[in-house]
Amino acid sequence: MTLPLELPSETVHLWYMSVTDTRILLDNHLSVLDEEEKYRANQFHFERDRTRFILARGSLRSLLARYTGSDPALIRFKQNRYGKPFLQHPHSPVQFNITHSAGCIVHAIAYGTELGVDVEFVRNSAGLASVASYFAPGEQAWLGAADAREHDVRFFTLWVCKEAYIKALGRGLSKSLDSFEISLETRKGRKEGAEGIEPWILSDSENHAASASWRLMLFKPGEDILGCLAINSATQIVELREYGTEQIMHSLS
Ligand SMILES: CC(C)(COP(=O)(O)OP(=O)(O)OC[C@H]1O[C@@H](n2cnc3c(N)ncnc32)[C@H](O)[C@@H]1OP(=O)(O)O)[C@@H](O)C(=O)NCCC(=O)NCCS
Repeated sequence: MTLPLELPSETVHLWYMSVTDTRILLDNHLSVLDEEEKYRANQFHFERDRTRFILARGSLRSLLARYTGSDPALIRFKQNRYGKPFLQHPHSPVQFNITHSAGCIVHAIAYGTELGVDVEFVRNSAGLASVASYFAPGEQAWLGAADAREHDVRFFTLWVCKEAYIKALGRGLSKSLDSFEISLETRKGRKEGAEGIEPWILSDSENHAASASWRLMLFKPGEDILGCLAINSATQIVELREYGTEQIMHSLS
């Protein structure tokens, strides 16, 4: 039997899971997928990608069922024109976004407010200079000021912040990466984030209110994994929980 989950307003729950966690049973998660998801799972070339997809979709269904009081297998999704999934059935104000990198999966869930989440495994960024060339000039300058060791952390910090924001907007890469700039300096009077810096949206040429409307929060769900959540600035509480054990790993706010 699954227990209902409560989500107060102005609160976001981040659910972390590791694909290698042997307590999490693949068959249970496969059994709640719909035909289209099973088809997608079978299209992956590598078994690890199939496993990751099944666990990500199965756990999302299980969590959404607990927040909405429904059956995981009866949940239906729809997508916006850029591929962002939303709940179609049951009708509910619950919003979510999912991300994965290496063996890490994170779901972000809130009531009635758009949100986006991204995680990345921090690795050598030397081969990703072409991606950085699409960043805003101020971001490129911040990257350029780092020594080689610091460069990888700065690169993936920018990456997760930018991805989380475009995912919150539901735009994906249809929004050009230099149309908005993330600042990563510590802002006076602000509480510092997971990496000792609190990012914020300095400017967005398509939305001049973005800086006041959105909040970016860094988190570290695992070693060498960096994450960012983009949420409505009214959000007060963000809890990072471990899927399966229900334990609260961190309170981010
Ligand atoms: C698809 C995209 C939204 C995220 O892709 P990603 O970072 O590779 O993947 P993530 O694991 O973080 O997120 C994938 C999930 O986001 C969701 N998603 C898909 N399109 C989305 C959109 N437009 N907005 C928000 N979420 C979206 C889906 O649930 C997807 O999971 P699913 O395929 O199992 O359904 C898009 O931004 C992209 O293609 N990015 C490529 C990465 C890149 O080059 N980034 C540049 C550096 S900033």
